[in-house]
Amino acid sequence: MVISYRCSAGTKLPWILSLQLILVATIQAQSASPPDFLSIDCGLTNSSYIDTDTNLTYVSDISDIPDKRYVEGGKAYNIMAQYMKDATNEQEKTLRSFPHGQRNCYTLPSIRGNKYLIRTTFTYGNYDELNSSENGSLFLFGLHIGVNFWTTVNLTKWRSPDTVWKEVLTVAPDKFISVCLINFGYGTPFVSTLDMRLLPDSMYPVVNATVSISYFSRLRFGSVDDFITRYPTDKYDRFWESWSWYNSSYPWLNLTTTREVKTLPGDDKFLVPQEILQKASTINSSFRWLNISVSAGDNLLGTRARDMEQLPIFHFAELDNNDSMNHRVFDIYRNNELLTPDFTTSPFRVDSPYQNGRFLPKMVTSFSLRKKPRSQLPPLINAFELYSLVRMDNHTTASNDVEFMKEVKKYYNLTRNWNGDPCSPREYSWEGLTCDYATANPNPKITRVNLSTSGLRGGLDISFMKMASLENLDLSHNNLTGVIPDYQSNSLRALNLSNNQLDGPIPDSILQRYKAGLLELRLEGNPICSTVKDRYCANKKNSKATLLVAVIVPVVFVLLLVVLCVLWKLRWKGKSEEQEDYAMYEEETPLHIDIRRFTYAELKLITNNFQSIIGKGGFGTVYHGILENNDEVAVKVLVETSIDESKDFLPEVQTLSKVHHKNLVALVGYCQNKKCLALVYDFMPRGNLQQLLRGGYDSSLNWEERLHIALDAAQGLEYLHESCTPSIVHRDVKTPNILLDKNLVAKISDFGLSRAFNAAHTHISTVAAGTLGYLDPEYHATFQLTIKTDVYSFGIVLLEIVTGQPPVFMDPQTVHLPNWVRQKVAKGSIHDVVDKKLLDQYDATHLQSVIDLAMNCVENASIDRPSMTEVVSVLKVCLPALSSEKQSAASTPRWKNVMDADIPKQFQLISGASTTSYEGSSFQSGYTGAVSEISLVSGR
Ligand SMILES: *[C@@H]1O[C@H](CO)[C@@H](O)[C@H](O)[C@H]1NC(C)=O
Ligand SMILES: *[C@@H]1O[C@H](CO)[C@@H](O)[C@H](O)[C@H]1NC(C)=O
Ligand SMILES: *[C@@H]1O[C@H](CO)[C@@H](O)[C@H](O)[C@H]1NC(C)=O
Ligand SMILES: *[C@@H]1O[C@H](CO)[C@@H](O)[C@H](O)[C@H]1NC(C)=O
Ligand SMILES: *[C@@H]1O[C@H](CO)[C@@H](O)[C@H](O)[C@H]1NC(C)=O
Ligand SMILES: *[C@@H]1O[C@H](CO)[C@@H](O)[C@H](O)[C@H]1NC(C)=O
Repeated sequence: MVISYRCSAGTKLPWILSLQLILVATIQAQSASPPDFLSIDCGLTNSSYIDTDTNLTYVSDISDIPDKRYVEGGKAYNIMAQYMKDATNEQEKTLRSFPHGQRNCYTLPSIRGNKYLIRTTFTYGNYDELNSSENGSLFLFGLHIGVNFWTTVNLTKWRSPDTVWKEVLTVAPDKFISVCLINFGYGTPFVSTLDMRLLPDSMYPVVNATVSISYFSRLRFGSVDDFITRYPTDKYDRFWESWSWYNSSYPWLNLTTTREVKTLPGDDKFLVPQEILQKASTINSSFRWLNISVSAGDNLLGTRARDMEQLPIFHFAELDNNDSMNHRVFDIYRNNELLTPDFTTSPFRVDSPYQNGRFLPKMVTSFSLRKKPRSQLPPLINAFELYSLVRMDNHTTASNDVEFMKEVKKYYNLTRNWNGDPCSPREYSWEGLTCDYATANPNPKITRVNLSTSGLRGGLDISFMKMASLENLDLSHNNLTGVIPDYQSNSLRALNLSNNQLDGPIPDSILQRYKAGLLELRLEGNPICSTVKDRYCANKKNSKATLLVAVIVPVVFVLLLVVLCVLWKLRWKGKSEEQEDYAMYEEETPLHIDIRRFTYAELKLITNNFQSIIGKGGFGTVYHGILENNDEVAVKVLVETSIDESKDFLPEVQTLSKVHHKNLVALVGYCQNKKCLALVYDFMPRGNLQQLLRGGYDSSLNWEERLHIALDAAQGLEYLHESCTPSIVHRDVKTPNILLDKNLVAKISDFGLSRAFNAAHTHISTVAAGTLGYLDPEYHATFQLTIKTDVYSFGIVLLEIVTGQPPVFMDPQTVHLPNWVRQKVAKGSIHDVVDKKLLDQYDATHLQSVIDLAMNCVENASIDRPSMTEVVSVLKVCLPALSSEKQSAASTPRWKNVMDADIPKQFQLISGASTTSYEGSSFQSGYTGAVSEISLVSGR
């Protein structure tokens, strides 16, 4: 529409009137702005001034007061000197432009749930001397209100001194509203003014948390001198344009009254100012139609604007008091669609038909008021508003997360282009963050922060620990100093603080979660590790190792042990290491074992001097290695204390080397001599089940994959229990001991060891005999080890697979997983226990049987538990369609970021309005370029 009013230099009517007031204004206008107004003159170098036209106080967008800095970055400019002197107001003279970053946001303080009018104005004024608006190329950029697309600012073919404005009426989602400029790649975004006005909640009832409206046109009629009527006439500072200057050749009539125009009691939807209601336009009674045409220009053709839904609002009040018997009746049409039939004006009372807030499809720009034959008088109109719908479908990031991230940003003086909402919309989310957009939470939550190698200095900010959904925090390779704050984060599952300057002690809150297996911790490369020798301080230098650590943890299966020699029993003193290695090799081969025997030197070679640790368990440390033929292996070096019993091991290795099953991790070889006691296994590239279910990695398993994994594990155990004589009881079945190969086939690791390391070795047997949460209560009480002990632990694993929860967790009290499931199922539906990561994509028909089976496995009395054979057959029923052979093909893992990659670049096709230029500088608004006109069609 239009708003183009012509202003040749020196005759800027709207502002001229106020000239008379300047004197007074400058003397008296201190603090004249209503407290509900925020008026920002972008790029202003002084801190503030009082606008002479309105008495409003305009402030700079970057003030010295930290609380009053509304924007970061960007660069302040003045419009070109030649346009300065003609500027119609002060705000046009300066602007802020944003050459860097795709999205730059202003953050305006607000009260959550309150309604605001927000207006931006743009006066290019050729500030950068690129002549961008007139040089023929496209010059446009986008605007977001909060995290939702608002409109496009299209300045293509505009005259440099022209001004365009955009307005939106919106509800604040939070303690602040952001207004963002989006660089579409067609010129540098900039902004001249930002106005924010609080509106009473009752106004524009159609505007709510999910619906905002963007201004397209707002007109007032009658004999009006100002081009624009705004504050203080309109106490909400809406811009009302007057059309009366324009097209004076039309035979319209002005109506004016000084009588009060009333509003129906309780009708405070629009609160149109008296001054506006007291004027109206009509036509000579020989005319029948009064046409309001809000033309929008070429650019609305074939663009998104055409698909916009619109909301017209009319304001009518009868001002003709000559003859109370005379009345006006007319129909209101939108193009040829009848919107309101038989509308009758009320004397000195405003009526505002607006279709009950119904949005009408398509952007139609022609409205007409058609007189009914029985009406004595032609139609009249006082004011008209036209808005387009802005959907607020995207949600802002959870409020607390935003605050903590802002604190982090402030704490570390981060200068990266972090502004606007951290997660939303996705394509503009802050670099280094990963958010959870699952439909279950309306507000995205931050789950991962990666500020590795970001030059952070100072302490570890406690804000990170307070973020309720943060699962993975990577602050490695910075200069963090001091101690790690002691704060219990129950969400954190991976914490990488390696290569900083952090000092001890490690707080209990972290250590406990680490020990409970709930937290992956990395601290190597910190002073704190000078005294601590735990796994988290192990040196992992290369990046491949880093990845593996996360991916694979306890790889271990059984057997190849090699004895690492240690000083005791050192019989070959004085010989070189190599000699010792071989000497031992020659000396001890008590048994015939079919798998490869490695020397210590060979292990050293294949593990690249034991460089990359991929896991640590009860029996020792696991290293990644590469054989001569490039096969990857996991080398488990057994702990020194186990060496005492090494004599028992070799027979065990012999047994285990004969155990082969597709669901058991295969033993490749062993090393046993004075220098080493180690087992070499196939390397399982997908890591362990615990990581896949709950790891800090963006992996997720679908329902079918989960059932396949459960079946695989069950089959591995069934083999150990039923096909080996005597039966092999694993004793430490848990998700970290279920490893996945590249096709997501599950294989059980670490079996057999527990039997070899007998109970005499207390620290070993405790570990081997079970892990907290998986421990068979009957075995615990009686020490009667049976294969049903494994069944119990498997039941816990199965519950983890379904729920995604750890076996023991805080909720907020410590709770054991089977009890949690029982409580949930008792309280609500069985569906409440299913892992939210599945997003309801699971086979509900078999859910009940899987949970029943799991609960059956965790019966207190071992006699009540099924055998693994029974478990296998139940699971097979749940997966009837797929044979295990098809499994690998079917189990392509879904990685979350695939979803992210799908998100198209969205705004490319959005087009704004085109503009029509007029001589002289013009002020244009909304989808400008348009001409608003009243055309009168002659009646018969
Ligand atoms: C500005 O303030 C002065 C003093 O309060 C007042 O006289 C004048 O009318 C005001 N001007 C406008 C445009 O409101
Ligand atoms: C919401 O976000 C999505 C993805 O970022 C985007 O495609 C969509 O256009 C956004 N919706 C609005 C109303 O901005
Ligand atoms: C907002 O209003 C629309 C209709 O105009 C309605 O469908 C929607 O439910 C409302 N949203 C809220 C949050 O009230
Ligand atoms: C109506 O008012 C406008 C603006 O004040 C004026 O230009 C126009 O001449 C008036 N029209 C008539 C018919 O008086
Ligand atoms: C952040 O920057 C400010 C000013 O540039 C400086 O005074 C302050 O010391 C910096 N803080 C940190 C932690 O670097
Ligand atoms: C912007 O305006 C120009 C000139 O009116 C027009 O040609 C172009 O199509 C518009 N572009 C968009 C995306 O609206």
